[in-house]
Amino acid sequence: MAFTIAIDGPAAAGKGTIGRALAAHFGFSHLDTGLLYRATGRRMLTGLDPVEAAQSLRAEDLAADDLRTPDVSQAASRVAAIPEVRQALLDFQRAFARRAGGAVLDGRDIGTVICPDAEVKLFVTASDVERARRRHKELSDGGHAVTVDEVMEDLRQRDARDSARAAAPLKPAEDAQLLDTSTMTIQDAVAEAIAIVDAAQG
Ligand code: C5P
Repeated sequence: MAFTIAIDGPAAAGKGTIGRALAAHFGFSHLDTGLLYRATGRRMLTGLDPVEAAQSLRAEDLAADDLRTPDVSQAASRVAAIPEVRQALLDFQRAFARRAGGAVLDGRDIGTVICPDAEVKLFVTASDVERARRRHKELSDGGHAVTVDEVMEDLRQRDARDSARAAAPLKPAEDAQLLDTSTMTIQDAVAEAIAIVDAAQG
């Protein structure tokens, strides 16, 4: 049976962590849709036309180890504003969302555009400072040399661009449940998300 959990929110709010934990808890498949835009942006940085890069994306493009760097993040957010890029990635995401056994997708437009009929919609947020701190730790732990200020600047620029664009802007779906994780531990945020899904499953 298909069951879709749509998770949206600004950069580094904890969507991926919550999405992975929900998928593990309920035995669902998980898709980090930001990876599609990151891989497309990374290919653009190597000289490819962004629309062609999105149309010919391969599984191995999603496995590159530098997809989370600020340069690739910015490129992702720039290609994500191009309607033809979004269109090229649409069918794959919709098919993933309706696969048997349940699916969790996280991104910016999952509840609004990709899966407007998702059984559960979450909009995950956290303060700028907290999001920059978390993303900085993730990058430093992964061996990438960036400062907290650089990470903060990247998040602010992307949130502004992602929210202002005409094509599928970042915004909560009208029926999304808000989850502000600023002062929550990962465990608390995951427990709250599980409780929301449990309630929806009835
Ligand atoms: O989620 P993540 O930060 O990895 O996404 C990278 C960029 O990809 C975002 O800043 C946004 O511009 C774009 N994106 C999008 N729609 C999605 C997922 C990501 O526009 N569903």
